[in-house]
Amino acid sequence: MTARIIDGKARAERATAEIKVQIAARVAAGKPPPGLAVVLVGEHPPSQIYVRNKRRMTQAVGMKSFEFDLPGTVSQHELLTLIGRLNTDTEVHGILVQLPLPKEIDADVVTESIDPAKDVDGLHPYNMGRLVLKRPALRPCTPEGCMTLIRDTGENLVGKHAVIIGQSNIVGRPMALELLMARCTVTICHSATRDLPAIVGTADILVAAMGRLAFVQGAWIKPGAIVIDVGTNRTPEGKLRGDIDFETARERAGWITPVPGGVGPMTIAMLLANTLRAAQAIDGA
Ligand code: GUN
Repeated sequence: MTARIIDGKARAERATAEIKVQIAARVAAGKPPPGLAVVLVGEHPPSQIYVRNKRRMTQAVGMKSFEFDLPGTVSQHELLTLIGRLNTDTEVHGILVQLPLPKEIDADVVTESIDPAKDVDGLHPYNMGRLVLKRPALRPCTPEGCMTLIRDTGENLVGKHAVIIGQSNIVGRPMALELLMARCTVTICHSATRDLPAIVGTADILVAAMGRLAFVQGAWIKPGAIVIDVGTNRTPEGKLRGDIDFETARERAGWITPVPGGVGPMTIAMLLANTLRAAQAIDGA
């Protein structure tokens, strides 16, 4: 079997075009454009690229982009002061603090300082708790993007065995909750999991999010599986590649996301969707 390729780039462009239309209608009705503040601390090169793309897309859909580039030496207190200001700024509907933060700063404290109504990353304990309780408010962007791609296959998800590799707060854990809500049977694997290939071999849906270059071998994959690759690793030559060994995996999977051009663009599209939702909720629209 040769897998069908899930074109995340095209799907994200479609989602983004719809958001742009909705924002134009909102502005034509006399409402302010949604505003998204993206805060970058320090000079982590991958984060610089992600943040640049987020800001570019924010402007491209007609939102207002508020940009804060803080030096790596900024204190936690100064960062919290900025977030406090953004929490009360009526032009700002969404706040994102790019992770990772310098180790001197407690990322949990920073995440919890964001007004949950403006937490367009969906990482605040309030939003994560809502997802746990099956009453999602603002949902984490990458898992929501993955769910959109999985649903687009048109396959019935009910009762499928979904295996997630990775237990991070940003991807693995909320991904498990999303798949559980879709009535999958869910297994979360991590670095202490025994016999990973055997578990992967039982996955109807596989989501790889552990950050290890081409770690998952095609031979592990159940024939026909939906394979979602969240990995963003650099090869020694500097190319962007996922956690799945794409060339061998595509020979067994039924569906597979490429890297680049799979999950990555969807994360940004979902961020913009969350910012529009936040603006609508804050306005009471
Ligand atoms: N770093 C890598 N992915 C993300 C994300 O989705 N949100 C934030 N804030 N930082 C990240």
